[in-house]
Amino acid sequence: MKLSTPKPDQKVDLSRINLLDPQFFATGDPHEVWRYLRCNAPIYFQQLDDGRGFWSVTRYDDVCRVLKDYNTFTSQQGTMLCILNKPDIAAGKMMASTDPPRHTEMRKPLERILSAGALQSHLPGLRRVAADLLAPGLSGDLWDFAQAALMFPMAFTGALIGIPESDWKHLARQTTMSIACDDPEFMEGSPEETLRLAHHELLAYFACEIARRRRTGSGDDLIGQMMDMDVGGNRLTNEEIIFNCYGLLLGANVTTPQAASVTVLAMAENPDEYGRWASRPELLASGIEEGLRWSSPVNHFMRYAVRDIEIHGVMIRRGEAVVAWIGSANRDEQVFDNPYQFDVGRHPNRHVAFGFGPHFCIGASLARYALRALFSELLRCVERIELVGPVAHLASNFVAGINHMTVRMIPR
Ligand code: HEM
Repeated sequence: MKLSTPKPDQKVDLSRINLLDPQFFATGDPHEVWRYLRCNAPIYFQQLDDGRGFWSVTRYDDVCRVLKDYNTFTSQQGTMLCILNKPDIAAGKMMASTDPPRHTEMRKPLERILSAGALQSHLPGLRRVAADLLAPGLSGDLWDFAQAALMFPMAFTGALIGIPESDWKHLARQTTMSIACDDPEFMEGSPEETLRLAHHELLAYFACEIARRRRTGSGDDLIGQMMDMDVGGNRLTNEEIIFNCYGLLLGANVTTPQAASVTVLAMAENPDEYGRWASRPELLASGIEEGLRWSSPVNHFMRYAVRDIEIHGVMIRRGEAVVAWIGSANRDEQVFDNPYQFDVGRHPNRHVAFGFGPHFCIGASLARYALRALFSELLRCVERIELVGPVAHLASNFVAGINHMTVRMIPR
């Protein structure tokens, strides 16, 4: 997705904007539209030709409110625009599609496994994975960083879940297919067929894996731990394990590469800022946080109102969909000084790239560790990054992504 700096007085004809259209996110300018909505229509209804429609909230405070208040805005009827007004088959079974209290029961034991403290022992492994990812780029040859980054999370989340390396490539593609079924590069048949195929491949993969382990023993990886874990006094069902494996893999695969690619792009475009970052090791963590705010890999999450509720004097009716645009919240000028400026030392930085409230990303610590490993290696080894040629963006209303980005990394 294009990360533009919209002009403050730019007018937008909303009747010409379709926030559902994946192509709009590949070639259009969502930031211009979001800025206009924040200023002029903080609660905005888009009516679709087929009779469906959805509300958008774009201001930081409203995004947080919708994501946090699960008593008013449920996650159990679908959380992504691509399934607007269609049933969510994972409702009540997968964490992201389940409201408290069941959500809390499922999340607690997984939260312990994925906590910053519990992941400490993985840090040396993460550093190796980061160095392996960067190695081909350090020759100084032209290199498609965005393509290489797509495999990055498989090497830490895939391994953590218990997926053998031989399956990483196939599963990484299936996860992107399931969030970008309209992108020509990932389509296998029509968008509907692409989505169906990806879901089938991923769910069947985990179903087979669990069946195998029921015969041979659960193992000590994340799948094994999920099979044995106590959730509200019971074990998870097969279906719950399958959906949660899917959720964890999807959560990691479609986001972390984009945080890395978009940050690399920002550094190629701002060599002075890159120089500042490289010369001030104490800014490693704040630079990563700024990369997360800047890239906002997840554009939106959706909820449904379970009762009539008023926002900014507008009545949202029970059953209506409300889309919280995270990418917009992270540029809200009421919260961030100079929001369209990448500042590696930004402080405070209350970005919501990982969401807000009960569904706050459970993989946030893992993603932060992985990105710190990657960028500490990059800053150590690379003098400067040059962008070579145009950037190809992912067609997805869900993930702000880059498909191709050729760079030359000049080694130190
Ligand atoms: C830069 C990387 C990442 C970003 C930007 C990101 C973003 C998000 C966001 C915005 C949510 C909130 C969902 C909601 O409100 O409905 C979320 C939830 C989630 N994420 Fe991440 N994520 C990242 C990395 C990861 C990783 C590495 C994993 C796996 C280890 C993961 C797994 C999940 C899961 C399972 C949920 C659902 C949590 C729940 O419902 O309680 N994510 N993520």
